[in-house]
Amino acid sequence: MTKITKAVFPVAGMGTRFLPATKASPKEMMPIVDKPLIQYAVEEAIAAGITEMIFITGRNKRAIEDHFDKAYELETELQARGRTETLEVLRGILPKNVSCIYIRQSEALGLGHAVLCARPAVGDAPFAVLLADDLLIGRPPIMRQMTDVYERHRCSILAVQNVEPAETGSYGIVRCEGGADGLYPIAGIVEKPRPEHAPSTLGVVGRYVLTPRIFDHLERVTPGAGGEIQLTDGIASLLQEDQALAYEFSGTRYDCGTKIGYLKATIALALGHPEVGREFSEYLDTFERCGSLA
Ligand code: UTP
Repeated sequence: MTKITKAVFPVAGMGTRFLPATKASPKEMMPIVDKPLIQYAVEEAIAAGITEMIFITGRNKRAIEDHFDKAYELETELQARGRTETLEVLRGILPKNVSCIYIRQSEALGLGHAVLCARPAVGDAPFAVLLADDLLIGRPPIMRQMTDVYERHRCSILAVQNVEPAETGSYGIVRCEGGADGLYPIAGIVEKPRPEHAPSTLGVVGRYVLTPRIFDHLERVTPGAGGEIQLTDGIASLLQEDQALAYEFSGTRYDCGTKIGYLKATIALALGHPEVGREFSEYLDTFERCGSLA
């Protein structure tokens, strides 16, 4: 098996939890301070040595394509105004050795279906999947940690974190047997179990390294919870013939698919931002003292 060079970004969901903000543009274009969520995910993939980005887009695809495309008019305008720094920021969005492919998922039939749509572009190679609404911050970046694990074990790897027992119904939950030091062989996986039926509290988050065998399993999956083709069901089927590991990553996760997670991410990253961090921190101090907007 070869090195991982391809990443799939399913961005065709409806983003209903963020309506009306996501009515005309994808959830993945929502910014955390000054960068859209999708750019954080693409940068994480690039840091893992990935050079081919495959976006599974839906009806609001334009903004994502435009974001990673060259903006000739804007660049000419910035050049004319001598705004070299801003120009560099713009040109740095995508390094020259990185390419993008866009595949349309015509109906939002579920995450498993979105991943299956990537099959013609992925082919017969292991690949990464990144859900941009899960913002993962770590050193090294989380996908790099995972591709390193993949290099050593050569099987599918699922990023997991310990979730509150009451929250198992929001995650795919794994049942592991054995393992140590944050790496556990997966014996089973269930989608969104109620706490009393959950096999553990290890919830799968939006980072996967998958072997191409997953595609055959996804082809066979029938619609599950909510009438969608679930990636979890495909992985459950894959487990019958292949090993997969749960990897408890080292870092912080912000669930930016929810309002509260998005707000937490914004505060954390704004506080660490080189341009506005200090002023924002002072502002938050004032805000705490006055108990209202200063
Ligand atoms: P979510 O479960 O968060 O769904 O999808 P959603 O539609 O994006 O958001 P809500 O729940 O309505 O607010 C998880 C990931 O899978 C992608 C989404 O874009 C998101 O990155 N997805 C989901 C697809 O690409 N296609 C689908 O059919 C479903």
